[in-house]
Amino acid sequence: TNRTFTMIKPDAVAEGHTGAITKMIEEAGFRIVAIKKTLLTPERAGEFYAVHSERPFYNDLRNYMSSGAIVPMILEKENAVADFRTLIGATNPAQAADGTIRKLFAKSIEANAIHGSDSDENAQIEGSFFFAGTEQF
Ligand code: GTP
Ligand code: MG
Repeated sequence: TNRTFTMIKPDAVAEGHTGAITKMIEEAGFRIVAIKKTLLTPERAGEFYAVHSERPFYNDLRNYMSSGAIVPMILEKENAVADFRTLIGATNPAQAADGTIRKLFAKSIEANAIHGSDSDENAQIEGSFFFAGTEQF
């Protein structure tokens, strides 16, 4: 098995979808390795999404990601990174497949309910951004 990193984004947490999303994740066969509810400052949100620092939406993204509580998680499953990206669906909910988390819960291309790591390497980096080694069991 291997691991991926996710976080439920502020829109979905604020609207009370944390339980429904977590249930979908577990029913899809992912084991929750680590989980908490926390808040990002704009600075830390910018650090998390530093790869997008040259994009026109970077400032909006920082503000959005620090606008309310988030729920970061480390998840474990065979083929975790790719299977999780399939479960959440396309970045833009208008293009997300039926039954995906973004199709069900995302409001816009920005407020799109959930994050999923795009590689094993980034899953490791992003998980360690939120959780100490002793929390990752
Ligand atoms: P993450 O799992 O959150 O990384 O999303 P992704 O991999 O599907 O998309 P990407 O990494 O390209 O973009 C990161 C996040 O920036 C998205 O999830 C959106 O929240 C936001 N974003 C992406 N594209 C746009 C855009 O064109 N406009 C705005 N306002 N936000 C965007
Ligand atoms: Mg991404």
